Amino acid sequence: MCGIDLFFKKKEVVEMEVTFPKGFYFGSATSAPQSEGAHGIEHKAPDIWDLWFEQEPYKFHGQVGPQDASTFFEHFESDIDLLRETGQNSFRTSISWSRLLPDPEGEPNPEAVEFYRAAFTRMREVGVEPFVNLFHFDMPASLQERGGWESREVVALYERYAQTAFTLFGDIVKRWYTFNEPIVHVECGYLQQYHYPCKVDPKASVQVAYHTALASALAIRDFHEIVPDGKIGIVLNLTPAYPRSDNPADLKAAHIAELFANKSFLDPAVKGVYDPELIGIIREHGLMPHVEADDLAVIREHTVDYLGVNYYQPLRVCARASLPNPEAPFMPTYYYDVYEMPGRRMNPYRGWEIYPKALYDIAINIRDNYGNIEWIVSENGMGVEGEEAYRGPDGTIQDDYRIDFIKEHLTWLSRGIAEGSRCIGYHLWTFIDCWSWLNAYKNRYGLVELDLDTQERRIKKSGRWYRELAQNNGF
Ligand code: BG6
Repeated sequence: MCGIDLFFKKKEVVEMEVTFPKGFYFGSATSAPQSEGAHGIEHKAPDIWDLWFEQEPYKFHGQVGPQDASTFFEHFESDIDLLRETGQNSFRTSISWSRLLPDPEGEPNPEAVEFYRAAFTRMREVGVEPFVNLFHFDMPASLQERGGWESREVVALYERYAQTAFTLFGDIVKRWYTFNEPIVHVECGYLQQYHYPCKVDPKASVQVAYHTALASALAIRDFHEIVPDGKIGIVLNLTPAYPRSDNPADLKAAHIAELFANKSFLDPAVKGVYDPELIGIIREHGLMPHVEADDLAVIREHTVDYLGVNYYQPLRVCARASLPNPEAPFMPTYYYDVYEMPGRRMNPYRGWEIYPKALYDIAINIRDNYGNIEWIVSENGMGVEGEEAYRGPDGTIQDDYRIDFIKEHLTWLSRGIAEGSRCIGYHLWTFIDCWSWLNAYKNRYGLVELDLDTQERRIKKSGRWYRELAQNNGF
């Protein structure tokens, strides 16, 4: 048995017929900073990834930076043809804020307007529904210098950017998202140092989280006025928190982990309110953000129309083995330890557990605790290093492991739908192998292989299978 086959040594579901409701969205997701390229100053102003790569290139795998993203800017027409060839009826990408508004207070960049209009129009022409996100970790560098999400001024400029995008593209794009995985720029940027500005500042992290939720609500308010026939959501990475055991201390640990990891954005986005217990903890640690009059009313009144859920891995936790150091900077792990469950299935390249049943648990949680709101799997996928080892005699990458991964997740998802959860689609991460932040091109996620030297695209076995999946509305 070779490395990747080991992922599937313990399949959790037996092969059975799996079908999805008529009109189900089968597609994939990417983001502007990870796929467009054309990062030169003649095309766009720098964002924080351009800035960070310039400052510390050695932190990026192989010292490959965002300027080497997969050239969608240049090749969008033929790439969109490949969407159809791989059977996709929908596609998520994002707009680059710093491309559309190189001066965040100035006029839109005509080249960007032309590019995005052409790309979204082309998608529509070939029967691919565009799902467009406004923010995928790519704060304009000039705004980071003005405080980034810590600054109220940036919230106002984000609202201006959102209004601009809705006005320019709202006639052709009817499905929008305000943010991708907002907890990630909070945790990685302000607690864990995986994103710029690489701070360890719990108080700032709470302010950033709060400003992000507020910015999302403001954009939703404006969207409903500018594009009344569209729908807007937010993409959240939900990582169900599973306790090690039924011991009350483990259960409490999982409960608090759930508050931070999931409910912190899910509750304001869908219910318009924060969980009082979460607020109590934040207050107890002296981390309450600055809130202005009417903010909470904006959050309460402008909730999402639907939800995007990114799911990759569960969060397993247990009661802390030792007391936390009260003087250390506050982290949510003040209340729990991350639990490495013996025998868990791992994707060793990414270091993430593979646990497909969580998609069912998410479906049921949304059904029972979030008003059964309409939702879509906005990301799920498997990053694998060294895929060229799986190239078959005809030159195609034989990524059966990816097909199995998708099948297992779809099987559990279909059970959730059969039990009444309103999931409308599945977007795989990702379409064409793309640049992945600090990991650059280490792990490949695509249905389509990218040759880094020639930029040639080659459909993998999973891409052909995905087409059949979509044609049959199941497998
Ligand atoms: C998601 C992000 O969290 O995971 C994507 O929205 C990202 O931007 C994807 O690329 C896979 O993670 P990574 O770190 O392996 O690229």
